[in-house]
Amino acid sequence: MKKNKLQAIRGMNDIVPQAIPYWEKAERVLKDVATSYGYQEIRFPIVETTELFVRVIGEVTDIVEKEMYTFSDRNNDSLTLRPEGTAGCVRAALEQGLLHNQIQRLWYLGPMFRHERPQKGRYRQFHQFGVEAFGLSGPDLDAELLLMAQRIFRALGIADKLTLEINSLGSLANRTTFQEKLVEYFQANYNFLDEDSKRRLTANPLRILDSKNPQMAGLLKNAPKLLEFLDPKAESHFKQLCFLLDQNQVKYHVNPYLVRGLDYYNYTVFEWQTNELGAQGAICAGGRYDALVEQLGGQKTSAAGFAIGLERLVALFNNQPIARNDPHVYLVLVGEGTLACGLQLAEKLRDRVPKLKVLTNFGGGNFSAQLKRADRSQALFALIIGEEEINTQSVIVKHLRAEGTQERVSWDEVSKYLAKLLNLELESE
Ligand code: HAM
Repeated sequence: MKKNKLQAIRGMNDIVPQAIPYWEKAERVLKDVATSYGYQEIRFPIVETTELFVRVIGEVTDIVEKEMYTFSDRNNDSLTLRPEGTAGCVRAALEQGLLHNQIQRLWYLGPMFRHERPQKGRYRQFHQFGVEAFGLSGPDLDAELLLMAQRIFRALGIADKLTLEINSLGSLANRTTFQEKLVEYFQANYNFLDEDSKRRLTANPLRILDSKNPQMAGLLKNAPKLLEFLDPKAESHFKQLCFLLDQNQVKYHVNPYLVRGLDYYNYTVFEWQTNELGAQGAICAGGRYDALVEQLGGQKTSAAGFAIGLERLVALFNNQPIARNDPHVYLVLVGEGTLACGLQLAEKLRDRVPKLKVLTNFGGGNFSAQLKRADRSQALFALIIGEEEINTQSVIVKHLRAEGTQERVSWDEVSKYLAKLLNLELESE
């Protein structure tokens, strides 16, 4: 009987070697830019207690209600695969004493898990790059976070594909007053609410504003606006932020309906969006969460950050040409005694030119079969060793991407020769 092929879990992707150069480019840019703003890496577990996410993200959110990968371990403890990074980052920073009267700027990168309905740009395992800054309460930090995101998009050549939306959720008190008015308004228009919104009206009315249902558009347009309920401090914070963005030529659109799907935010919230990926347009999202550290048992500590989804980020530039990880040279070994000699030469080349990528022919084959493999490997040069080369302690360097160019080089000289040709660093002997 034929066995069923085992397949990956729906919504969890393999990243194949051809895609890796794009991921590496994204990761390099993200790390370099975060470092240039003084952020340091933190690593924390992929699994945490379920309670952490419930408390941080909020009981009545899509993530906690229906998207978490939660399971009991062998001690019957309820654990959850992290659906986002902020919760784990704050927990770790607190537990490691990083927040004690200190300013911290942290970044992280890794897989997150949400049991969402998979579609283009929306996966069950996806990767986030996140930054979180602690101990800074002003709009200067918010503005710098947005400048940092913009710098990342520019470095990847995709800035013109993104637009920035910002909003202020005000303080908790502002939100409570606003929420009362909002509930009054929706109750007066109860019959126009869709099913989802009716459910949210008692559970989490702010999220109704986030509805993408076109039937709700008219109702939402006339709903009270959060920005009208900001107290003077929250209003001034938002105005300052807009001023700083204007002064730094960051283009943005104030979107009064932007409320975000996680409960921890206050004051500034933002999203960078694109039209290029269909329905899943949010590339980067974040904001302030000044109450969270205290809520998790720490001292009162202002905080703000954002996260970028790497699958979506990479999808915005993976049609650009990119340097691939192909080998530089392919060692062709034909004839008696050439294998041992070839392995030795390859090791010597790697000693002297550490960045050189060398592929050695294994499994024999005649000259033309090996040359074909060399060509298919995408290597730039074939290094050919036959019996004559062993006798003369030399190697033929054949350019595979330019017709008819080949040269004989001695074993002593070949490292230097290749380093020069490929512009790679040569270690001294
Ligand atoms: P979020 O909006 O839930 O925020 O996710 C941030 C980004 O992760 C999204 O904009 C998107 O690019 C990516 N993302 C989310 N879900 C998926 C998915 N199912 N498939 C692919 N990509 C996805 C947060 O997670 C907050 N922790 C952000 C934050 C950090 N706020 C303050 N600090």
